[in-house]
Amino acid sequence: MDGSGPSASSAASDTAPDTTPGAATPAAAAAASGGAPDPARSSGRPAMVALDGVSLTLATSAGAVNILSGIDLKIGAGERVGLVGASGSGKTSLLMTIAGLERPTAGRITVAGTALDGLDEDGRARFRGRTIGIVFQAFHLIPTMTALENVAVPLEFARVRDAARRAAEGLDAVGLGHRRGHYPSQLSGGEQQRVAIARALAVAPRLILADEPTGNLDADTGARVMALLFGAAAERGTTLMLVTHDPALAARCDRVVRLADGRIVDPGTERAGGAE
Ligand SMILES: Nc1ncnc2c1ncn2[C@@H]1O[C@H](COP(=O)(O)OP(=O)(O)OP(=O)(O)O)[C@@H](O)[C@H]1O
Ligand SMILES: [Mg+2]
Repeated sequence: MDGSGPSASSAASDTAPDTTPGAATPAAAAAASGGAPDPARSSGRPAMVALDGVSLTLATSAGAVNILSGIDLKIGAGERVGLVGASGSGKTSLLMTIAGLERPTAGRITVAGTALDGLDEDGRARFRGRTIGIVFQAFHLIPTMTALENVAVPLEFARVRDAARRAAEGLDAVGLGHRRGHYPSQLSGGEQQRVAIARALAVAPRLILADEPTGNLDADTGARVMALLFGAAAERGTTLMLVTHDPALAARCDRVVRLADGRIVDPGTERAGGAE
């Protein structure tokens, strides 16, 4: 699966962008008070993302399919985590549940201290709009909007002044300033991917979920896009979850989590230093 259509990417929010720093979460309090080491937990940072016993089962014509099974995972604030695993192992599904676009069948998900199961659909959309930037595997650009308008959508939902100017700057940063007025159908796959990345970064989210963000890019453009994502993470302390099949990219992350058959088979260990 790759999300739930264009509306899924609408970083809908009718509130101002949340600029609160990654504050006191229950997980942070637990970390501060010490306690037994938890293998699912990244060391030394308050949690930005916490999954406890998360399962996702979908009903299909062929019967129930277990997409995710008993996922326990904690991602620290500011951590850059690579997510790897074979095709069909559940990487996209995991990102979609963390984004609140799929509701888990069991378990709990907390993002930036907010329990997603305590929010209704509108609440999740508002929360997502101000907290999470998503780069979908299939882009999910809105076909009737130009590149500039696509990037401006989350800014307008967040009622950011100068949305068009900020969107133009975002397009410049991914090297597409000259393509502002083009519609997705007039852009190559790699160009659409860069528009999607500019949109995800537009509101300076605290958490970026990126599903193979360089999958359609040539080596040079991919390196530029990754520099942008890692640069945002470094400058703003943004937490980054990055699905990739590229070992070199995974190696730039602080930690690599491996999935197989909807389960975490290796939660990884945090490397000192990680990326630059
Ligand atoms: N809507 C759906 N109904 C039934 N099964 C689904 C649905 N969406 C995904 N799946 C199944 O869930 C499993 C995990 O899919 P997912 O898209 O999360 O894998 P992935 O690790 O992202 O794979 P890829 O590397 O190919 O993108 C797959 O077996 C897939 O066929
Ligand atoms: Mg996928």
